[in-house]
Amino acid sequence: MLHPIRRIAISTGGGDAPGLNAVIRSVVFAAEKRGWECFGIREGFNGILRPDRYPVDGITRLTMAQVDHIGHLGGTILGTTNHGNPLKFATTMPDGSVTETDRSGEIHAALKAMEIDALVCIGGDGTLTIANVLHQQGMRVVGIPKTIDNDLDKTFTTFGFDTAVAFATECTDRLHSTAGSHQRIMVVEVMGRYAGWIALHTGISANAHAILIPEIPYDIEKLTAHLSARDRAGHHYSIVIVAEGANPLGGERVLHEKGGAGYVERLGGIGENLAQELQRKTGKEARAVVLGHLLRGGSPSAFDRVSAMRFGAAAVRALDEGHSGIMVALAYPDVNYVALEEVAGRMKSVPLNGDIVQTARDLNICLGD
Ligand code: F6P
Repeated sequence: MLHPIRRIAISTGGGDAPGLNAVIRSVVFAAEKRGWECFGIREGFNGILRPDRYPVDGITRLTMAQVDHIGHLGGTILGTTNHGNPLKFATTMPDGSVTETDRSGEIHAALKAMEIDALVCIGGDGTLTIANVLHQQGMRVVGIPKTIDNDLDKTFTTFGFDTAVAFATECTDRLHSTAGSHQRIMVVEVMGRYAGWIALHTGISANAHAILIPEIPYDIEKLTAHLSARDRAGHHYSIVIVAEGANPLGGERVLHEKGGAGYVERLGGIGENLAQELQRKTGKEARAVVLGHLLRGGSPSAFDRVSAMRFGAAAVRALDEGHSGIMVALAYPDVNYVALEEVAGRMKSVPLNGDIVQTARDLNICLGD
């Protein structure tokens, strides 16, 4: 029989996303309502694993008074990292080589020493995979789905995505007028890693003329033909949204930096390449804009705030009901629980026969195929 919960800890891992602070606020409120004490682990799990950086306050007390005013703020008050995986913790040796060590035992020990009974892990695929392992090792863990990329399975959406799409839409709206004035092709590169959710939703929302996503390798000839046909029809400018993970038919993704021990590969650069290629092929001036980390910054949208608060409260309810090894998910009109092992290591791609792709096609948006 599980002993009653008195103390819980929160960890925010992976790339930040608007809404993280709203989740923290919600977890702390719901926990205190039950008489539980809340703690936050700094910078993913580095608050425990990096005493050099956090000699005293790697695990810090969080109270309702402290988090009352953070719900509308971007980022995370706890800090985060996307290269601090405790299961494969990278350490640089004196000879410059990098070794990877499983340091999960130190997390169990640190939480036990502080009499913390359960953990709320807020993150994307990487963080939820770690959460699942910690659960399998005996810790009470609940996960919360976060990523602007919206590529987590078993949840209608992740928080952060709506804010990212809203901002990308606003930026693209602005590009229409300058593209039109100069009769140019504007290529807008957006984040999303290996999934095209941000690109597709932004492109539809912002009336783009072409959208390139990783799920549909693009044929440059077809894209060129579509843009040139627009020109001939008297529409002398075009907007192309390209996902950072998109790739040409038979070609490679563009990498900003290769991955390595403790580091995931960084995508980016396709926008500029594509703009140059389209300029050569169409004879029209083309410019690239990379929205990059702007999509991760700023205040969460109302939708993301509400989702985040629902997730935070649901995570505490789940722990109170005795659950562990689950992720809270949006399943309209409700929030439900799904096993972490059903989520860990699985990516949600854009379904090619789904309504969103069909909608783009019906709007005469070229998808490069
Ligand atoms: O997963 C979120 C995300 O913003 C991706 O869209 C992007 O590829 C990656 O993180 C960028 O990571 P970093 O902050 O390390 O550049």
